[in-house]
Amino acid sequence: MQRVPRETNVRLAVDLGGLAMRNPVTTASGTFGAGREYHDFVDVAALGAVTTKGVSLHGWEGNASPRIAEVPSGMLNSIGLQNPGVDHLKAHELPWLAEVGATAVVNVSGHSFDEYVAVIEALEEAPVAAYEVNISCPNVDAGGMTMGCHVPSVEKVVGMCRAATARPLIVKLTPNVTDVAEIARAAEAAGADAVSLINTLLGMAVDARRRRPQLARVVGGLSGPAVKPVALRMVWQVARAVRVPVLGMGGISCGLDAVEFMLAGATAVAVGTANFANPHATVDVIDGIIDYCEEQGVADVNELIGALEC
Ligand SMILES: Cc1cc2nc3c(=O)[nH]c(=O)nc-3n(C[C@H](O)[C@H](O)[C@H](O)COP(=O)(O)O)c2cc1C
Repeated sequence: MQRVPRETNVRLAVDLGGLAMRNPVTTASGTFGAGREYHDFVDVAALGAVTTKGVSLHGWEGNASPRIAEVPSGMLNSIGLQNPGVDHLKAHELPWLAEVGATAVVNVSGHSFDEYVAVIEALEEAPVAAYEVNISCPNVDAGGMTMGCHVPSVEKVVGMCRAATARPLIVKLTPNVTDVAEIARAAEAAGADAVSLINTLLGMAVDARRRRPQLARVVGGLSGPAVKPVALRMVWQVARAVRVPVLGMGGISCGLDAVEFMLAGATAVAVGTANFANPHATVDVIDGIIDYCEEQGVADVNELIGALEC
């Protein structure tokens, strides 16, 4: 059954660095395709936005299998940014999202600094409300390091993307760093309109009987409820370090989880791994935010942002 959020008098609209969202809930990239597969379960136009799977200039096959492992309170993945390329997104997914009335945020990835810019340039005429630049990718230009881990490469890639578009630019941060606030400040200084976090935490799982790693690539990204306390801590730290709004994610599966992120400083939230177990999760989260606001006498969801008392 296709669900929509329930009726309410609570004001739910938020502004994420120029991205107007009808409510504070989007999808975490890579867990919702481009929305089509979930449209039987939730009206994707009723979400704050649909954030697509990361897209690169040309198609990527992704990593070898097995590339998913279930772990306590979460999962590990090493999908490796598999996607059919930006032309496919433009020809098939973005027109569909526009037709159903959804707000589309495209998650941009690349093998090199120039590839990020090329993907954005390819999308400038397409119906896209904002870009989310995933700087957690391995960076070929800098010898295979992750771009999002070092201030100079963050400044460079964000500055180049900034110059390529006037649309809202959300920069997605990796949690696999010592000081996430420093990286967030670098992204802001280079022109980000918002930052999103967290991407997955590096982890691994071992099959002791077979004496083998559970993932073909040995290590993968941990997501789901297991990462929520780390994600909350990082959102709180980043929200205090930058002026631009924060899109919070990591283990959100119900309305109260989302409220916790907003109290810690997030303007909006994304629902990721929860979609796999519960395809109604996004609407459940919106309904749960409404329940909380009604119970607490909150007339406007914006009142929650950063309202943590500590
Ligand atoms: C299977 C899978 C694929 C993902 N693919 C992407 C991606 O393409 N780009 C990106 O920025 N993040 C990607 N992520 C990270 C999520 O968007 C999100 O940041 C992370 O999973 C934490 O949220 P969650 O615990 O609610 O899933 C992926 C996560 C999963 C589980």
